[in-house]
Amino acid sequence: MNILLLGGGGREHALAWKLAQSPRLKTLYAAPGNPGIAQHATLVDLDAKDHRAVVDFCTRHSIGLVVIGPEAPLVDGLADNLRATGTPVFGPSKKAAQLEGSKGFTKDLCKRAGIPTAAYERVTSKDGAIAALDDFALPVVIKADGLAAGKGVIIAETREEALDALDTMFSGAFGAAGEEVVLEEFMTGEEASFFALTDGSAILPFGSAQDHKRVGDGDTGPNTGGMGAYSPARVLTAELEQQVIDRIIRPTVETLAAEGTPYSGVLYAGLMLTDEGPKLIEYNARFGDPECQVLMMRFDGDLVELLLAVAEGKLAEQGPVELADRTALTVVMAANGYPGTPEAGGAITGIDAAQAGGARVFHAGTAEKDGAIIATGGRVLNVTATGQSVREAQETAYAAVDAIGFPTGFCRRDIGWREAAREESVA
Ligand code: AMP
Ligand code: GLY
Repeated sequence: MNILLLGGGGREHALAWKLAQSPRLKTLYAAPGNPGIAQHATLVDLDAKDHRAVVDFCTRHSIGLVVIGPEAPLVDGLADNLRATGTPVFGPSKKAAQLEGSKGFTKDLCKRAGIPTAAYERVTSKDGAIAALDDFALPVVIKADGLAAGKGVIIAETREEALDALDTMFSGAFGAAGEEVVLEEFMTGEEASFFALTDGSAILPFGSAQDHKRVGDGDTGPNTGGMGAYSPARVLTAELEQQVIDRIIRPTVETLAAEGTPYSGVLYAGLMLTDEGPKLIEYNARFGDPECQVLMMRFDGDLVELLLAVAEGKLAEQGPVELADRTALTVVMAANGYPGTPEAGGAITGIDAAQAGGARVFHAGTAEKDGAIIATGGRVLNVTATGQSVREAQETAYAAVDAIGFPTGFCRRDIGWREAAREESVA
């Protein structure tokens, strides 16, 4: 079967690597791809925003499955346009992708379905928001409703900070994404992510992970798209995971299906493990980046078969997802300046040497220039390893990081610290 993979980051490199291992694959095409993805796929010049061009490409190249990596094409309705022409797609419809595209949509769904989440109010004007502020204790969480590349969430410790945040949002700093705002109760606890595949009725758990959103060691500095991750997140015990499925994932899938907007794809639930049990922070309509990289390192099955079963509504015929018990951990190497403006064009050396010790280096923001690899994005490489423990995976991953020459880049040195500390306390 021919497959088209859309996206060009570390998540898509990890997906390409796994898709390429399937005996069912004939040709893997990818757009825009990157030099890492090019090791497994034929890169094609296609703009995911040009739905007609994508549909035409699929017809001309007998594409049997389109895998959409990032959220923007999903929220933009690309999956609907492909399905309308009979092409199986891994990824939700425009309406179902509102789970990621509109925080207000998700909060209202939680209310209708009785899903545990933070108390909230949706507001559409600054005056309305200021009035609503009185209903919340401090700190209060202020979110742009729409897609804001992970930057649309402000935790205001004081009323002044809250007013500033509302000022920023309603003055258009997030464009259309900030025309509507959600105010939320601040929840405390440890965060974890949980992934589940669904075709709109069957649900298959796809493991847990913990990301590191802050740019600096010890979780300091500004938020990023994610500086590193590991899987599984053992803090999400089997018992808690069952609660997440029963109280959060299943009611979401059932409610959306009953309302005529079935969700097909991967549900990525951002969770807060509170004293009252797991609560939903937010949904994403795609695999996480870099969480996907660690999930793929643990996945031992046939990814083509599984994603196709989701796309064709045949997930009930699949057995449980085969995830190895080993721990996978990834360290993001970013370009200096990230999450602000990253320094572009920095030289990268030593990727082969880094992989010689058993680690795997996924390309995130790279390009090839005159036969050499250079940095072209904020997050540039994902140096990934597995081990019997977080500590072991950390050692292999950081040895590989140290083998890479990237003078204009940096990384966190403490990915997995929470779990490593827990391992030490029980040892
Ligand atoms: P989101 O983009 O909704 O995942 O929010 C980004 C980050 O903000 C989350 O990973 C949390 O660390 C934090 N956050 C969001 N909502 C809340 C909340 N209601 N209470 C506490 N922290 C939150
Ligand atoms: N790593 C966070 C995300 O993919 O949204």
